[in-house]
This record gives sequence, C-alpha cells and structure tokens, in this order.
Amino acid sequence: MRLDRFLSNLKYGSRKDVSKWIKKGYCDVNGEAVKDPSTKIDPMKDKVIYDDNEVFYNDSILLMLNKPKGYVSANSDREHKTIFDLIGEPYSRFDLHIAGRLDIDTEGLILLTNKGSLLHNIISPNKNIYKKYYVEYDKVFDLNKLIEPMELLDGKDYPYNPFTPKVEVINETSIHLSIKEGKFHQVKRMIEHCGSTVTYLKRVAIGDIELGDLELKRYKEVDDNKKRLFE
Ligand code: URA
Repeated sequence: MRLDRFLSNLKYGSRKDVSKWIKKGYCDVNGEAVKDPSTKIDPMKDKVIYDDNEVFYNDSILLMLNKPKGYVSANSDREHKTIFDLIGEPYSRFDLHIAGRLDIDTEGLILLTNKGSLLHNIISPNKNIYKKYYVEYDKVFDLNKLIEPMELLDGKDYPYNPFTPKVEVINETSIHLSIKEGKFHQVKRMIEHCGSTVTYLKRVAIGDIELGDLELKRYKEVDDNKKRLFE
C-alpha cells in the first residue's frame, strides 16, 4: 500500500495533507527517512513513524466494549452519544464495524472489528453463535414458555421463531437467556410474549467471549485464542 494512502486511511489527514508532511520529512519507515508519498509499504510488517509517533496498525482488530445505557450502537446520531464516542486512540483511527447492536437502554458486551470475515462469522445466523443476556423482568411467569416455540416479528415485521433458546434461572424475576438470533428487540419481545416486561438487560457473552469484569465504558482487545474461534 502507498504510504500516503496508509496514513490517510488511518485519519492522519487527507492524502494531500499527509503527502505534504511526508515530503517535509515527517515520516520514517523501518528507521529510514522517507520523503516520497508513493513509497510502498506493508502495513503489517513495516514500522512507520509519523510526526515522532509510531503508527499502530492491525488488519484484524477485535475489541470488546462494555456499553452503558444511553449510548446508541451506530456510527453517528443527532441526539445521543454513540458507542464510538467511547473508543479512543489508536482504535478510533480504524473503520470499526459493530458485530451485533444493542438497544440504547441495554448494557453489556459489544464486539467491534475492522475485519470483514470476523464480522461475518460473528453475526451470520448460520454460525449458530449464542448471545447470552442477563435479564430482569417485572412479572413472574412460567419459564417453560420461553423455550416453547413462539412466533415473533423482526424489525421489518417478518415473522420468525427463536431457535433453541436456553434459560438459566437466577431468581424469580431474573434469568440468563441465551439466543442464537439477534433480531430487533428480541429479548424484550420474547419476555413480552410471556406476559412480562424487561426492566434491565445486559449482554454478558457472545459465544466464548465473556464480558467478565470489564467495567462499563471500558474496552479491550479480545484474546487471540478467543478471536481465533471466529477466524
Ligand atoms: N434484545 C433486546 O431486546 N435488546 C437488545 O439490546 C438486545 C437483545
């Protein structure tokens, strides 16, 4: 990849701007000053210093974030803060995609990646990955109802049936519910179908990736051994 494209892709400035600074001598590649913006580099192998700072690059980032309430799972929003407002350098320089959104009032695990195949493998319905939620609700109901076949509507009002949901009881009004799909308001709609209303919802795991003790608003890279399961 061309050096000027590499830097502008990472939001260091427009191609024109970064080219100007490269020509002025603000860039080193593998310890050598480089003044030609068209110089070809291998982003995963070459060490690039720009304006005295080493440029971080990874073509396979998988971040886990503990989303708080009040943040929307979107790239931009006119009214609310978005989960990307929580992501700082160097990851904020990458085009990260959300591997499964959460409602504005839901907390918990969100995965973000810049790698198309990881995104696909996490969200594709064919991959059968369980998403596990901690759910509190207001009225006690027969939990068998949650695992019996039910028909719900997705975000576009197409009917679907949740496939083999799993329930673990915590107490009378809280459970862990694991589902394979990630349809619009799915957990809230499943609980509603059973005659109760969700009062608190938090995603605690996606496949083998568990939120654990990651604090609200914090994020970190997923361990390589867990990431590999999605590659
Ligand atoms: N189900 C919901 O109802 N909301 C979420 O945010 C996630 C799953």
